[in-house]
Amino acid sequence: MRIVVIGGVGHVGTYLVPWLVEAGHEVIVISRGQRQPYQPHAAWRRVQMVVADRVAEDAADVFGRRVRDLKPDVVVDMICFRPESARQLVEALAGQVQHFLHCGTIWVHGPTVQAPTDETQPRRPFGEYGINKAAIEAYLLEQARRGNFPATVLHPGHIVGPGWAPLNPAGHFNPQVFVTLARGEELALPNLGMETVHHVHADDVAQAFCQAISHWSTSVGESFHVVSPAALSLRGYAEAMANWFGQEARLRYLPWEEWRQTVTAEEAQATWDHIAHSPNCSIAKARRLLGYAPRYSSLQAVQEAVAWLLDRRVITI
Ligand SMILES: NC(=O)c1ccc[n+]([C@@H]2O[C@H](COP(=O)([O-])OP(=O)(O)OC[C@H]3O[C@@H](n4cnc5c(N)ncnc54)[C@H](OP(=O)(O)O)[C@@H]3O)[C@@H](O)[C@H]2O)c1
Repeated sequence: MRIVVIGGVGHVGTYLVPWLVEAGHEVIVISRGQRQPYQPHAAWRRVQMVVADRVAEDAADVFGRRVRDLKPDVVVDMICFRPESARQLVEALAGQVQHFLHCGTIWVHGPTVQAPTDETQPRRPFGEYGINKAAIEAYLLEQARRGNFPATVLHPGHIVGPGWAPLNPAGHFNPQVFVTLARGEELALPNLGMETVHHVHADDVAQAFCQAISHWSTSVGESFHVVSPAALSLRGYAEAMANWFGQEARLRYLPWEEWRQTVTAEEAQATWDHIAHSPNCSIAKARRLLGYAPRYSSLQAVQEAVAWLLDRRVITI
């Protein structure tokens, strides 16, 4: 099939595009041409690259036509963040594509109510990002279920892979937290360290997209969580990473207002965003309907990413 991936050179695209090429598809990637995949792969030589700025072309109302003119059978939209943007694409592509896959986020759920969260639970998103993603999901699934548009929505957790810093056990992205644990130094965690994070390896996200494409009849009109088999508490995550470095974790717990003074404003914001959601999502539906079988646990995914940071001396112990 002829597959257009919008935003295919990032975390997920690095894995997804080679998967699709190797499965025999003709792949076209749209991006601004500013980034390279995190890892080289011979498959990229067989990919048609189209340079375009989706935000600028959305504003000029020409992006949908650009995608339609590429005559895709399947479109994977990795970078849609506004309902108007989704609507433009649907209006341009209705009746023109066999399958449309949107990359969502587990943050459409808002705070966890009943764990593990399944896809049927009500959406209570907060923050502009989660609210917009939930609105896009609702719109696309309604279009699909009314028979107007063959959409599937995949909701990844915190995407991890070699090449960038993973969400750390303090709930933010400063990789020095791993150095603290590796050296056996004390790490402060907010509250009791019992709030949760739910990672997924980028390669497993790519697998889920491929499985959704090859399971058209069970994926159209549906949304799926795409996460590792189990979420982690911050405390359990910190302890496991310290052990991985051959140390016992030395953890200290501080009430939120006190803890946030120990980190930068940016780190505190990232941690707040993560622990206010405290995701813990089920992959039972993706396993059953897509045959999704993640290769990485959360810890395996993080450890591969941290090994990369150490190898490239982004962090040193
Ligand atoms: N990161 C996470 O932990 C996480 C968690 C859950 C869900 N998600 C979802 O994952 C999706 C993002 O996937 P990702 O992490 O693989 O993305 P990413 O690493 O941020 O890569 C974005 C891709 O889009 C291209 N791009 C960015 N802005 C563009 C524009 N204006 N016009 C055209 N191309 C543009 C980039 O290339 P150029 O820069 O060269 O244009 C790159 O190919 C989003 O829908 C997000 O909501 C992410």
